[in-house]
Amino acid sequence: MPSDIESVLVESRVFPPFPNLVETARISGMDAYREMCEEAKRDPDDFWRCLARENLVWTKPFTRVLDESEAPFYQWFGDGELNVAANCLDRHLNTHIADKTAIIFESDDGKVSTVTYKQLYARVCKLANGIAALGYKKGDCAVIYMPMSTQAIVAMLACARLGVIHSVVFAGFSSKSLHERIVNVGASLIVTADEQVRGGKHVPLKSAVDEAFEMGGCDAVRRVIVYERTGGKVGWTQGRDLWLRDAIAGQPTRCEPVPVNAEHPLFILYTSGSTGKPKGVQHSSAGYLLWALLTMRWAFDSRDSDVFWCTADIGWVTGHSYVTYGPLAAGLTQVVFEGVPTYPDAGRFWDMVQRHKVTVFYTAPTAIRALIKASEAAPRCHPREYDLSSLRILGSVGEPINPEAWMWYYQEVGRAHCPVLDTWWQTETGAHMITPLPGATPMKPGSCALPLPGIEAAVVDDAGEDVAPGNGGLLVVKRPWPGMIRGVWGDSARFRKTYFPPELKGYYVSGDGARRDADGYFWVMGRIDDVLNVSGHRLGTMEVESALVAHEIVAEAAVVGRPDETTGEALVAFVVLKRPLPSGEEAAAIAAQLRDWVGREIGAIAKPRDIRFGENLPKTRSGKIMRRLLRFIARGETITQDVSTLENPAILEQLSKSA
Ligand code: PRX
Repeated sequence: MPSDIESVLVESRVFPPFPNLVETARISGMDAYREMCEEAKRDPDDFWRCLARENLVWTKPFTRVLDESEAPFYQWFGDGELNVAANCLDRHLNTHIADKTAIIFESDDGKVSTVTYKQLYARVCKLANGIAALGYKKGDCAVIYMPMSTQAIVAMLACARLGVIHSVVFAGFSSKSLHERIVNVGASLIVTADEQVRGGKHVPLKSAVDEAFEMGGCDAVRRVIVYERTGGKVGWTQGRDLWLRDAIAGQPTRCEPVPVNAEHPLFILYTSGSTGKPKGVQHSSAGYLLWALLTMRWAFDSRDSDVFWCTADIGWVTGHSYVTYGPLAAGLTQVVFEGVPTYPDAGRFWDMVQRHKVTVFYTAPTAIRALIKASEAAPRCHPREYDLSSLRILGSVGEPINPEAWMWYYQEVGRAHCPVLDTWWQTETGAHMITPLPGATPMKPGSCALPLPGIEAAVVDDAGEDVAPGNGGLLVVKRPWPGMIRGVWGDSARFRKTYFPPELKGYYVSGDGARRDADGYFWVMGRIDDVLNVSGHRLGTMEVESALVAHEIVAEAAVVGRPDETTGEALVAFVVLKRPLPSGEEAAAIAAQLRDWVGREIGAIAKPRDIRFGENLPKTRSGKIMRRLLRFIARGETITQDVSTLENPAILEQLSKSA
């Protein structure tokens, strides 16, 4: 986002940590932070060993910490065994947390229901017993395609209790995307709902599962468990489909957790890369959970008295680490929300913070920017209209937060009393990697500040050498950490090539560009590969291009990103049709048709904002599409560089005019 890059480079404001947080925080002051970083560097094995022993409950203690013999296929705590669900539930049962509220669930229409840890435990056990009774066991794969709900969290934990690997598919993805994931992961079980409700609208889910079956190749799926969310009408396949209420009927409220090896995959989560197909990011059980929990304690400085609220959907990694696993392992009370920030109005988030007395609030810059805009239009939705005095920590995730949005969040939501944690991390990293610490780090708006203890993040050049402060380069992590990605499901070659290219000394390569300032602070500049970030969601340009060319009237397509005030980036598609160049109303109608098509192929989040038609695309003489030039056109900028090496320079003018 060039406008942001410019603004962050002149950003010089620094906000010191608040004394009350410094006093009480687990990591208190910069000296304590530096000491922990030193400790981790001096003896990493000892550092992680102590943390894993203190923070997780093991059924078989580990003796090895890190095994690098098969690098980059690292193993952490490889001879230990535990159960992740037991670490989120059972460990609390003999403590005061047993009767504490685990989840305050608020549905789209504002109805609130709560469950205590003890009740959640019983629900998870019942469903786990129900799933086991259907013949599922450790190592099987389940796709979870559900709305935000207590039930979805129960489903994830029930799988974890049995050692069944889950793959949550965001309920906003189309049946086609769902199908791809079911087939790729080799699911034998699907847990879904009749419908989901968002912003007052009902969206069918079960029918998308049925459509996925019609596409073929889902033969491994024996059962589809359906949660009745709305009572909406659903199609039914006898012998395959069963209601969740029937699956759990009569099942006992106790279920022995199945111990799994520390490295047993807890989940596979698909995310976009630079090729056409999303890849299944595989996470471990012990290392992942340890990292999710430690970041709750270090970054969010979690307290027993907290009411934690992460607004992310469980379909994304943020929902895995900061809705399901992190907050529950930490024994927190958390808010889980079904709906959208703008329904019934743009004050919804603030109203919920006020009613539920939220203390830690974690959301995405896109939501903040949208709510800034909305509150300008409707002042009664402005955060100042609400009592937000319960808040003590604010967090941001998913994309760079521009200094203006940071300042609004800090001043209008936090009333200059709460730190804003700009947390940088990825699906692959499992949990936070670079973030300010509330009781230690001075904050600079627009910078995610410094790496967490144990994380050796750096900015390097193409040969893996550190670049000088102020210079741009690749954001890498030099040493393995417990929460890291363990593999790309079914594609170990892609795992090596994408994340550990040999020319970069075996470092983990994030795919982001960044620079560090003279204080060592990281300023993330965005992706350097063909991945775009729209509203904090990762999308591969190739993925959208493949969807477009799958349409019968499309001959060729190229997709690029353009900076957008609200969504961070917006997709612009350049399309060559198999028919004469359309104009006027016809062009608008075809563009609308193609947007819908992409929505059906991938999901609504992938619909291009803008579709331009041309008779061709700008190409080099060897036939390579010049995306760089398309980015200029998409931004409405004049192309000043020499384009004489293009096969067809005249096309640039045609595409510029077709807006
Ligand atoms: O480009 C970075 C951006 O989001 C990407 C990761 O996306 P995903 O795997 O979907 O995970 C999102 C939630 C962790 C990164 O490669 N990103 C994430 N957080 C930040 C960010 N960019 C800048 N600042 C952040 N705080």
